[in-house]
Amino acid sequence: MAEIQKGLEGIVALETKIAYIDGIKGILEYRGININEIMKLSYDEVVYLLLHSKLPTESDRTKFINRLRDERVIDEGTINIVRVCNFNIEAMDALRTAVSHLSHCDPDLNDNSLEANLRKGTELVAQFPTIVAAFWRIRNMEEPIPPDKTLSHGANFLYMLRGTKPTALEAKCMESDFILSAEHELNASTFSVRTTASTLSDMHSAIISGLGTLKGVLHGGARLAVLEMLDEIEEPEKAENHVLNLISNKKRVMGFGHRVYKTFDPRGIIFKQITKEIAEDTGDLRWFSIAENIEATVLREFVEKRNKPIYPNVDFYAGVLYKYLKIPPLLSTAVFAIGRISGWVAHCIEQFADNRLIRPRARYAGEHDLPIRFL
Ligand code: SDX
Repeated sequence: MAEIQKGLEGIVALETKIAYIDGIKGILEYRGININEIMKLSYDEVVYLLLHSKLPTESDRTKFINRLRDERVIDEGTINIVRVCNFNIEAMDALRTAVSHLSHCDPDLNDNSLEANLRKGTELVAQFPTIVAAFWRIRNMEEPIPPDKTLSHGANFLYMLRGTKPTALEAKCMESDFILSAEHELNASTFSVRTTASTLSDMHSAIISGLGTLKGVLHGGARLAVLEMLDEIEEPEKAENHVLNLISNKKRVMGFGHRVYKTFDPRGIIFKQITKEIAEDTGDLRWFSIAENIEATVLREFVEKRNKPIYPNVDFYAGVLYKYLKIPPLLSTAVFAIGRISGWVAHCIEQFADNRLIRPRARYAGEHDLPIRFL
């Protein structure tokens, strides 16, 4: 039996054409296009690229964008499901429950043909923002705001959340967040999606597996932890001591470190740039300065002093950006899911296209041949 690789570290489980990561050089590509180039696209165009393996023709682009915008509306039944979700559950649990409800209403629930899965997946991409925004407004005793077809994916989400249209910079930042969060090869939640799909279950069930996995603080939950850390530190001059205390208490600095990147996460570099831009635009550099001081202390303490490759990952400056976009901290993981749903759909389709049941082994460490003995 093969050697155990805890957490499947370094194990190559399958082949994909969706994303490429070089963790040493800090490179990420979606369908062969470098993430820095990808940033020139809209989120709608990135979704098309991920789901259809290529960028659209002009006519396909217009049709797809119109389709995504038409599908943003969620039915009253789904809104009611969000309403009955009792108010102390988390946004990720409400999102997961709403996806379950949507699955019951889909006539093609168990149809895993490419056509059916492209339709189901496209609808889920379109509806995630509406569900998350509706959840938050209902939780705050406000009525959900219907989507606005004239707005981009990013702008529309902020509009449905706030009731007012965002500035052009806020809309660009939200769109960039969804693009940078869209896809990242075989991360834990995408692995869950593919494992569920590999049993020939259905796309909604696979997405629900992904939601449950993304929720964890070591994965998508890190953005909430980053926001909580910013609030705890409060002032830039307190950042260094806060990090030193975490280290001396052997606690993790959330938003740092990565299983694959052993240098700067290329998404983190872009997130830092757009966060600096919006911080300067607001004139309130406090949160960005706190973040820079955290980053400087972590790099000094881990990379320089201990030779440990602990760099800012995608979630660190994403969390700081959410501060400037006034995204409620309790929504931060669900907002991550609004971006990541497109990568999950692409991987679900790729798994169905060339499937083999995902079933690794475990090495047994217990006793053998014991008698039945009631204590
Ligand atoms: C995401 O996989 C993906 O692609 C995920 C993602 C995506 O797009 O889908 O990129 C999104 O999930 C980003 C990661 C978000 N999570 C966090 O920010 C939580 C904090 N980070 C860590 O817990 C950690 O870095 C992980 C979980 C992300 C990766 O952990 P590994 O690869 O399992 O590494 P490890 O836990 O074995 O740590 C190795 C060493 C340990 O020290 P030693 O025991 O060797 O002395 O590095 C240390 C760890 O203590 N370490 C940290 C640290 N991360 C690792 N020390 C302090 N702070 C940290 N953040």
